[in-house]
Amino acid sequence: MRGQDRSGLGVMRWGTAFGAALAGLLVFAFGALSQDAAPVHIVPRLTGATEPMADMRAPPLDRPVTDDVRRMRNYPEQPPIIPHSIDGYQLTVNTNRCLDCHKREFTEGSGAPMISITHFQDRDGQVLSDVTPRRYFCTACHVQQTDARALVPNLFQDANDIGRKR
Ligand code: HEC
Ligand code: HEC
Repeated sequence: MRGQDRSGLGVMRWGTAFGAALAGLLVFAFGALSQDAAPVHIVPRLTGATEPMADMRAPPLDRPVTDDVRRMRNYPEQPPIIPHSIDGYQLTVNTNRCLDCHKREFTEGSGAPMISITHFQDRDGQVLSDVTPRRYFCTACHVQQTDARALVPNLFQDANDIGRKR
């Protein structure tokens, strides 16, 4: 008798467990569905609130900082930002206006800092006598600083400010 009783209870336990699992699955599925209906944007879209394919006026560009003050780098390998105007400077296969001032031969006259030694090295570390092709298009790495508002809060910390202090 006790055996029968137990098995009866067992069936009931299994039934309850199955019911609970099914209910859980349904709650989960509906939760996923309702999340699909209202997507959450954590970072504001660069394109703004307009529909992705809609026509809109291009917002004005932010103003570049052109005060000629060379900025401290946030880490040694950072390409320094351009502290002067580059409006109308041609940068094509045939002409490189940047090198008219930043090339080794021209720095004495222009007062511009020379492109660093890394700009003469090809990908195998061989040092060439002129700028290496992979450093030819300066604005692929060097940009101007503008007065644009930060899209998201910036928590960057200088390496000198973290860790044990002397
Ligand atoms: C007319 C000469 C001239 C031209 C052309 C020129 N620069 Fe400069 N550049 C300078 C001078 C001078 C400085 C030093 C800071 C200053 O006076 O603005 C400088 C500073 C810089 C710096 C900052 C270096 C540092 O260590 O902080 C970068 C990066 C730079 N220029 C990149 C460029 C790029 C990229 C171009 C082309 C789009 C360019 N420059 C065209 C003269 C020039
Ligand atoms: C592939 C990325 C890249 C390209 C392309 C590039 N640079 Fe740089 N540049 C850097 C980095 C990174 C640094 C800082 C570390 C170093 O010197 O390599 C730098 C440093 C500099 C400096 C500072 C040099 C010094 O000794 O303080 C100048 C000036 C400069 N670049 C000008 C130019 C010019 C002009 C061009 C185009 C002919 C150019 N760069 C192309 C990445 C680049």
